[in-house]
Amino acid sequence: MTNSIHLLDTPALLLDLTLLENNLDEISAIAKKNQIQWRPHIKTHKSIHIAKMQLAKGACGITVAKLEEAEIMANSGIKDILIAYPISSSQKLTRLRQLTLKATLTIAIDSVEQAKRVNEAFEGEKPITVWLKVNSGLNRCGVDIEEVVEIASVIKRLSNLHFNGIFTHAGHSYAATSIEQIKEIAENEAKVVLEAAKLCEDLGHQITHKSIGSTPTFKYGAEVEGITEIRPGNAAFYDMCQVGLGVTSTSQCALTVLSSVVSIKRDRIIFDTGSKALSLDQGAHGNKSVVGYGKVINHPKIILARLSEEHGVATFLDKTDLSLTDKVQIIPNHACVVANLFDEYFVHRDGEIVDTWQVDARGKMR
Ligand SMILES: Cc1ncc(COP(=O)(O)O)c(C=O)c1O
Repeated sequence: MTNSIHLLDTPALLLDLTLLENNLDEISAIAKKNQIQWRPHIKTHKSIHIAKMQLAKGACGITVAKLEEAEIMANSGIKDILIAYPISSSQKLTRLRQLTLKATLTIAIDSVEQAKRVNEAFEGEKPITVWLKVNSGLNRCGVDIEEVVEIASVIKRLSNLHFNGIFTHAGHSYAATSIEQIKEIAENEAKVVLEAAKLCEDLGHQITHKSIGSTPTFKYGAEVEGITEIRPGNAAFYDMCQVGLGVTSTSQCALTVLSSVVSIKRDRIIFDTGSKALSLDQGAHGNKSVVGYGKVINHPKIILARLSEEHGVATFLDKTDLSLTDKVQIIPNHACVVANLFDEYFVHRDGEIVDTWQVDARGKMR
């Protein structure tokens, strides 16, 4: 009996298992080739199943953004978790303390005040492992290189912190306009981490983890001598933003949204996938090469030109061969936000559904 994806009701989130496996194998091979660790960011898929696949394929642990993601992953038995986000409120520090009973946690430090708060919260407990987040150009969280000595000196006096890593995220690579520019950003990303690590080592800290990672840059950063770890997230799935950057091709994009034609007008087709299925994301940093709101596979002349919540309005050149109720697969612009909009993945091989996996940490932002 056939179990084709085209029998599914829509909108549905589809995950091509062969492509997912290939993407994970490729990242794993890059880590192995460079003899470094791979700590995937699971905010992309928010799935226990995929996180465990990554660990089975050689990941040393996982990266999360949110404490709630860490709780879900730790409750599933995953042991080694980097929370790459500065935690400082007493509510969250209480939860963090409780979570250390279940998993080996590392958290991000990004200011003197936050370091002191974390230190206080762990008074009388086993010291918590912390990594310093440095800013390599994204200008989001992370201390500038000029501030490293000051914060590392303060951390020396905070006996409840076990400081052994430096990390950064070069998210500004998403605004690059050429692969050359991406390579430059990757080189700088690694350079900032290594410089910061040296400054800390000169103060007597032992920095064993020197971690970089964004999907556009990780392949290049991985090759820099001294870097010990990569943390790509999106590279598990890829999407039209990465295609637009020239980092990958549509043939590697593992995540698609199955969508139906609900209406056809003189000059437009309306699909049942609006912003609540595809998101309005066109690339966080103004990626100029992203056209519309996703790519309709096998229909090169269709442009998904605008989205309202439940409608995706596409324009077409000349005429369309699509009819009412026809189904299409759309590669999203930004896979990570789209995965967070659905309850489950319909996992398929060559269009035949082989499994369904929950998006376990969907909507978990606290
Ligand atoms: C700290 C950190 N590490 C790794 C990543 C993964 O980046 P990407 O999805 O580009 O691979 C992110 C993404 O936001 C991040 O914030």
